[in-house]
Amino acid sequence: MSKLELNSNIHNYEVAFCDSFNFLDDLMNIEKKVFVIDKNVYKLYKELFKNIRKDELFLFDAIEEKKTLKTVEKIYKFLATKDAKRNITLISIGGGITQDVTGFVASTLYRGIKWIFIPTTFLAQADSCIGSKTSLNFETYKNILGGFYPPNKIFIQPDFLDTLSKKDYYSGIGEVIKFALLKESYPKDFNSIVNMVEQVKRKNDRLVTIKKTMQVKKIYIDEDEFDTGKRNLFNYGHCFGHALENSSHYEIPHGIAVIIGMIYANIVALNRSLISKDIYKFLNKKLFLPNIPIKLNIKLFDEKILLESMKNDKKRVGKDLTIVIPTDDDIRAIKVDDLTFTEFSKSYNQLLKILKLK
Ligand SMILES: NC(=O)c1ccc[n+]([C@@H]2O[C@H](COP(=O)([O-])OP(=O)(O)OC[C@H]3O[C@@H](n4cnc5c(N)ncnc54)[C@H](O)[C@@H]3O)[C@@H](O)[C@H]2O)c1
Repeated sequence: MSKLELNSNIHNYEVAFCDSFNFLDDLMNIEKKVFVIDKNVYKLYKELFKNIRKDELFLFDAIEEKKTLKTVEKIYKFLATKDAKRNITLISIGGGITQDVTGFVASTLYRGIKWIFIPTTFLAQADSCIGSKTSLNFETYKNILGGFYPPNKIFIQPDFLDTLSKKDYYSGIGEVIKFALLKESYPKDFNSIVNMVEQVKRKNDRLVTIKKTMQVKKIYIDEDEFDTGKRNLFNYGHCFGHALENSSHYEIPHGIAVIIGMIYANIVALNRSLISKDIYKFLNKKLFLPNIPIKLNIKLFDEKILLESMKNDKKRVGKDLTIVIPTDDDIRAIKVDDLTFTEFSKSYNQLLKILKLK
């Protein structure tokens, strides 16, 4: 079992990369614990979880509509009834939604309890499990509540990914592409990113890709855990992507919305003559468009909702819109706060054409 140590201003933590499910047996030996598990994952892996006691188990629907304070309250109630208080360990198993909800609980209950996270989606294994963020949705606003609190330990077992639906698997690929494009070495070898993605689509090299993606993320979070500077650049693809999750009522999963968001960000950069037409076309043809595995329709792209959501983006600072865009052909990203509504609309219409929705 190999390991990755991570530093945090809150508490240092460790990722263990596993090639079997034996680590679950060790977790059973923890004396005071509760498991919070995504219902779908529990059903799929029932045999694996057969030794979990009913009174130590909380199952929940991992859907965006339930990434809310209401779900958090239900878990508080479940935990508050236990004899163990600050000495309880919360073990959560699922994807990014499970992580966000349980991370919020772990960070707030008794001002912080021990938390072990077992990510079961590609996105959660390669990206979200490190970096300390916990987020909840509030009304129609995505991820606006939350804080920073990493798990104490993370166990990555890539075999969990075998049961993911195609769209959820590709959602992870979206974030993997984003981190590869944000890697800080110039010039970028775009063909090697294309090859890496092709391998992962054939279920090869998943652990290698997860580790590589984490290494890129680690460089950014080591420097800016609390997202006040450099880490903002992770929002490449996210400014429009979050708006699209809203406008599609989460029919478009997070990482796929990020792929479309990167196409959108590149359109803005192209219109500002920041990137060349060649790179723009290459990325669309080789990295972005082939990795959108769902049928899109124009109803998911409501211009009014998209604009409203971008106006409500928590990173927005002025009268115009905020977006992370590439500044050159090596996709060095910057955050700009001057995307005008006219520019928004022009780029939106260009995007629809590229996606063949117009
Ligand atoms: N905290 C962070 O740093 C951070 C970073 C990126 C994204 N996020 C959040 O993560 C969420 C998306 O997370 P996600 O993509 O991991 O998906 P998810 O948690 O929404 O899960 C997607 C679907 O896959 C199912 N599932 C989970 N594991 C499975 C498995 N092994 N086999 C079969 N089905 C499985 C779930 O039940 C669900 O239906 C978003 O809410 C996003 O905002 C958080």
